[in-house]
Amino acid sequence: MMASKLSPAFFTWFILLTCLFFFYLYSSFLPFYSLSPTPMQSLKSPLKESQKNPQLERRHPSPICNLFRGHWVRDPSYRPIYDENCPFHRNAWNCLRNKRDNMEEINSWRWVPENCTSTRIDPVAFLDLMRNKKIGFIGDSLNENFLVSFLCILRVADEGAKKWKRKGAWRGGYFPKFNVTVAYHRAVLLAKYEWHPEKQLNLTGQDRLKGIYRVDVDIPADDWVEVTKFYDVLIFNTGHWWGFDKFPKETPLVFYKNGHPILPPLGILDGLQTVLESMVSYIQREVPYGTLKFWRLQSPRHFYGGEWNQNGSCLFNKPLEEDQLDTWFDPRNSGFNKEARQVNHLIEKALQDTDIQLLDLTHLSEFRVDAHPAIWLGKKDAVAIWGQDCMHWCLPGVPDTWVDILSAMIHRGLEIV
Ligand SMILES: *[C@@H]1O[C@H](CO)[C@@H](O)[C@H](O)[C@H]1NC(C)=O
Ligand SMILES: *[C@@H]1O[C@H](CO)[C@@H](O)[C@H](O)[C@H]1NC(C)=O
Ligand SMILES: *[C@@H]1O[C@H](CO)[C@@H](O)[C@H](O)[C@H]1NC(C)=O
Ligand SMILES: *[C@@H]1O[C@H](CO)[C@@H](O)[C@H](O)[C@H]1NC(C)=O
Repeated sequence: MMASKLSPAFFTWFILLTCLFFFYLYSSFLPFYSLSPTPMQSLKSPLKESQKNPQLERRHPSPICNLFRGHWVRDPSYRPIYDENCPFHRNAWNCLRNKRDNMEEINSWRWVPENCTSTRIDPVAFLDLMRNKKIGFIGDSLNENFLVSFLCILRVADEGAKKWKRKGAWRGGYFPKFNVTVAYHRAVLLAKYEWHPEKQLNLTGQDRLKGIYRVDVDIPADDWVEVTKFYDVLIFNTGHWWGFDKFPKETPLVFYKNGHPILPPLGILDGLQTVLESMVSYIQREVPYGTLKFWRLQSPRHFYGGEWNQNGSCLFNKPLEEDQLDTWFDPRNSGFNKEARQVNHLIEKALQDTDIQLLDLTHLSEFRVDAHPAIWLGKKDAVAIWGQDCMHWCLPGVPDTWVDILSAMIHRGLEIV
């Protein structure tokens, strides 16, 4: 009688108050940019307005936590939570097994984000939160590097974890205790691309073309086109293949749209921009509203003294200082590693006014010149053939911090729904 009359109103208030409670609780986790005018896609409550309202932001009691800005602190008591025996390792990144020098020190640096309390992942709590859910990474080998770190960390909470490779996944893991799947789909350019050896293709006006890589800017690669509705969380990236080392002049990328070559032919960065715009609009169209979507910004490379194929090296034993970063990465200084910030600029532009959240791991990673596999690649002659690896990361290592940040953001994203 009385109770049944009251309950709808009571229920509304209860939900509203719960939302407010979570907003306060999780605002201490908020990465800075998420308070920008871009609305969180899944926010349906009045909080949407309060988040957008700068006056409320200013009245907010605690300073805004920014997971992407901060500094690395040496903390000898800090330990990775997995070792060289994780079954998900890829040999070339398993720096403990490959006996890389300095591993203990590499993993004694802790990322301390500005104005945040501890953000380290709790694998049990995280898997519990993700129960019956699926997380998908889509992109290039740096997203695979990210995935391997994620799988090794989560496995600590479920030793029964199994390899998982379905639906076109390149690799992945299944956590039976929690019914959680985490996998990676390899799509280095995101768009579909194919090798065409035909001689008659002379679209770039160049001599001595061996053939071209045809990129269909408006068609997503087969590897992920079928899984847009399969995952609850998606993490995209592209960037490391958009360079002349992967696609030199004799075998260039040639961009097509609606089945026809784009004329005049696009340069590689204009091609990237076109692909980004088209893939982002595809994601907005095809990926369901409730899916959490992230875009990971570039992982910086650290080649010193030469490019990767010119004896470029990264034998450093501590992180860079903040005031060294621009010398290494500012495009105006045209160093070997300048492309990360250039590519980021294009990505940020393409993601404006979308509900895809930026995972800006570039800055924190720029410091870590000391944490690549370098010459310890686990294979004889690998360095002579491939050069040092100053691009991927040792595991355990920097991507573990990426996992801490991503998991905090997923946590927050799911709680707010
Ligand atoms: C951290 O908090 C201080 C004090 O509120 C603020 O001035 C600063 O901008 C914050 N830092 C970041 C990166 O948000
Ligand atoms: C596992 O999760 C999927 C959704 O990701 C669900 O369809 C399936 O029923 C779950 N299985 C069990 C055994 O709970
Ligand atoms: C390609 O076109 C350029 C200019 O249009 C021409 O100079 C060159 O000879 C052509 N190359 C081939 C292999 O046909
Ligand atoms: C790289 O180093 C090797 C051995 O020191 C040397 O023979 C070679 O010329 C170097 N290559 C470049 C591009 O500098």
